[in-house]
Amino acid sequence: MGFFFKWVNLFVFFHFLAATPIFSDSSSSSNAFVTTKFLDLAKDPLVFDWMIGIRRKIHENPELGYEEFETSKLIRTELDKLGISYKYPVAVTGVVGFIGTGLPPFVALRADMDALPLQEMVEWEHKSKVPGKMHACGHDAHVAMLLGAAKILKRHENEIRGTVVLVFQPAEEGGGGAKKILDAGVLENISAIFGLHIVPTYPIGEVASRSGPIFAGSGFFEATINGRGGHAAIPQHSIDPILAASNVIVSLQHIVSREVDPLDSQVVTVGKFQGGGAFNVIPDSVTIGGTFRAFSKESFMQLRQRIEQVITGQAAVQRCNATVNFLDDEKPFSPPTVNNGDLHGYFESVAGSLLGVNNVKEMQPLMGSEDFAFYQEVFPGYFFLLGMDNASNEHLESPHSPYFKINEDALPYGAALHVSLASSYLLKLNPDISVVGGKHHDEL
Ligand SMILES: *[C@@H]1O[C@H](CO)[C@@H](O)[C@H](O)[C@H]1NC(C)=O
Ligand SMILES: *[C@@H]1O[C@H](CO)[C@@H](O)[C@H](O)[C@H]1NC(C)=O
Ligand SMILES: *[C@@H]1O[C@H](CO)[C@@H](O)[C@H](O)[C@H]1NC(C)=O
Repeated sequence: MGFFFKWVNLFVFFHFLAATPIFSDSSSSSNAFVTTKFLDLAKDPLVFDWMIGIRRKIHENPELGYEEFETSKLIRTELDKLGISYKYPVAVTGVVGFIGTGLPPFVALRADMDALPLQEMVEWEHKSKVPGKMHACGHDAHVAMLLGAAKILKRHENEIRGTVVLVFQPAEEGGGGAKKILDAGVLENISAIFGLHIVPTYPIGEVASRSGPIFAGSGFFEATINGRGGHAAIPQHSIDPILAASNVIVSLQHIVSREVDPLDSQVVTVGKFQGGGAFNVIPDSVTIGGTFRAFSKESFMQLRQRIEQVITGQAAVQRCNATVNFLDDEKPFSPPTVNNGDLHGYFESVAGSLLGVNNVKEMQPLMGSEDFAFYQEVFPGYFFLLGMDNASNEHLESPHSPYFKINEDALPYGAALHVSLASSYLLKLNPDISVVGGKHHDEL
């Protein structure tokens, strides 16, 4: 971004700061206070360039789940500079900030902080400096967008009709960070929580979501099938766990195809099969492992129960023993991500006002999972996808690819949506507070 451009916008920014309240317009209808002003504020270089700088810094130093110490420190440093109070540590590295009156109602915004164990293959100036670790799922951008929102919200703190709670969460990638944040007990009386994920599958300026289930619940299992090893040419003296495990896998595939309602999408995949090391030896045991997915907690628990029964039962048919482990500590299961129906209508109207109604898309549910689901089990919650594709630019790879790239032009859209969703929701919940001299008084 050029020098001239910066100065022009610096003027615009100061103008904004001096301007009349932007979060509310009591003279007009319920949604008139959501305007493209939020987007203009977020696109100002003082916010936009700052977010890009933060995102690149985090990108260069990716940290895995519960190890986000530097990322957390960077967040706290910026919150300190902005004068935003927070609680730390929450769930090891998590940070929970507060903007507004400090009183109810509370609306939460969530960003995840962890990277993936993946070697970055993109050659660019801000490539990951940590071998084997990469922000390949956009969490660096999620943090930057939430900080961008925090910066805008803080500037207009005395217009906020309650408290915006900023949730910087560790370990989204299979570590159950959301659950740990909830267990820490710092989120109280939250009226609504919003979260987003940046994706290359929608154009920049578009968002997509749906009411009800949006992502599947996801769990993992590992099973050891024990037989008795021996000479491959004398099978009658052995109990062959390789054949047993093969039958187990075939039987597992019958759960979804024969026991489940075809209209209730579910998946069982065995992705791991380990056993044996020689051509002429029957091994003692085989270990298999995989994942299972479903869109309701009920289906999910049923699947889990049947996976265990089928593995132990089918192993027994082959005279083997099996133990099944659902890895509850290491890889805690993530419930289905289910969007609150009322919040869907609210989201459509707010995002529609900000981006234009044609840029708010209805999406099909995805089999992927998102630990935002844990919050939704406790509070009304809403999750949406934020587009970043720009057809005039290069093709963008999917998340979890070592070639994953972020189109940083999308950052202001995420920040503006955070600001609008939180501030407007508080206004909706708490319309009768008057703002007098920057202080809040109940009109009683
Ligand atoms: C949450 O609500 C409960 C019950 O109304 C109340 O006792 C508690 O003080 C509230 N917590 C906060 C942080 O407002
Ligand atoms: C399976 O477990 C039973 C009961 O503990 C034991 O008697 C049997 O030897 C085991 N079989 C194998 C193949 O490990
Ligand atoms: C898409 O990219 C082009 C070329 O870099 C740029 O001029 C344009 O502003 C971008 N569009 C959006 C919506 O950011």
